Amino acid sequence: MPDLANTSAATVLGRCDELATHTSLPDGLIERVYLSPQHAAVNALAAGWMRGAGMNTWQDAAGNQCGRLEGATPGLPALLLGSHLDTVPSAGRYDGILGVLGAIAVVERINAGGRRLPFALEVVAFGDEEGTRFGTALLGSRALAGTWLDAWWELTDEAGTTLRAAFLAFGLDPAAITSAARTSNDFVGYLEAHIEQGPVLEENDQPLGIVSSIAGARRFQITITGKAGHSGTPWTHRRDALAGASEAIVAIERLARDADLIATVGHLAVFPDAVNVIAGRAEFSLDLRGRFDTDRDMAWQQIEALLEEICATRGLHVAVDQTHTAPAAHCSDRLRGVIAAGIGAAGTRADGAPAAGPAPLELLSMAGHDAMAVAHLTEIGMLFVRCAGGVSHHPDESVTEADVAQALDAFEAAVLALADTHGDEAPA
Ligand code: GLV
Ligand code: MN
Ligand code: MN
Repeated sequence: MPDLANTSAATVLGRCDELATHTSLPDGLIERVYLSPQHAAVNALAAGWMRGAGMNTWQDAAGNQCGRLEGATPGLPALLLGSHLDTVPSAGRYDGILGVLGAIAVVERINAGGRRLPFALEVVAFGDEEGTRFGTALLGSRALAGTWLDAWWELTDEAGTTLRAAFLAFGLDPAAITSAARTSNDFVGYLEAHIEQGPVLEENDQPLGIVSSIAGARRFQITITGKAGHSGTPWTHRRDALAGASEAIVAIERLARDADLIATVGHLAVFPDAVNVIAGRAEFSLDLRGRFDTDRDMAWQQIEALLEEICATRGLHVAVDQTHTAPAAHCSDRLRGVIAAGIGAAGTRADGAPAAGPAPLELLSMAGHDAMAVAHLTEIGMLFVRCAGGVSHHPDESVTEADVAQALDAFEAAVLALADTHGDEAPA
């Protein structure tokens, strides 16, 4: 009998704790960005766990850590399972990470079970989903999806290091980036498990949910320029960039609320940043998301007009740089179905009867996921796991062992449900 201790929720959570120690921040805070020494360290750990689960491993040309377990015959297209190992600043320990480590545990269970599937299983630990270091998100998954843009090579981090230089420092060859790209023929689909990052499951007393679609997002860097000067300057002669930015930020929030969109200004920098000097320049980020790309794009046009109007009134200048755009992505009917089947199987009582309870919830994800990029190649499905208070992108991110145990059972059952029906129906 194989030892399945490695595939328990306790082990997966212990591994999440271990990865959390690979951080660039002191005092137990977590930050792990793309192409950093911490990225290399967690790739090495994940690779070891993948091999322990029976997979062959490799790091691809974008720094994504990959593993593969062959199916009934070598070389079959794969069901890709994955998520990301990078984090935001002051992150929690489960966003992305739980999905990767859960996928490795599920592959180990299936391998130990001895059933050979009509497809291979691959696990990918994406190196960049958050976009923390270079501003543009989904770099790892976009490399795999073959949607990498050459313009990204000149993106810089806060220290002025270009993406190209960071590749070289990590031991990667920028000229080889296209070899990270996979094709539609490589895959039968993509499944991602992820914490919900919202309150809906908790409010409905359900541990697991099915993602229906993922909201499209656009990110911008907005620079407002006025004139720095003495804080004693009279009102008639002031061109205060921070006052203009503040008016714009509040107006953006109002506009987004009215349009049923989500807008976040999470970064603001002021120059020269002194108590007795009028701000000559203010830079802020904007992250704009919505269920429908058309609504989001229409709101952005209104925001642009609003920025121009506010700045014209205040004698300021505004410049806008779009740093990221990702269209909304829909989870296929087929993979929504296998996730539902997986949740149902995980809720089955010991006597085989379905546990009493409501049908699993379908949720729109306002958070972005690697699945959005992979959708360019193959159909996607996602399983959400309840997280305490819906809190994420924060050290307080938390899940229970019981929920993770159910999630692992459901994810495994979803893979097996797909194997049962694979070839019976065309992708939705
Ligand atoms: C990633 O977590 C995002 O939604 O931006
Ligand atoms: Mn995140
Ligand atoms: Mn994530």
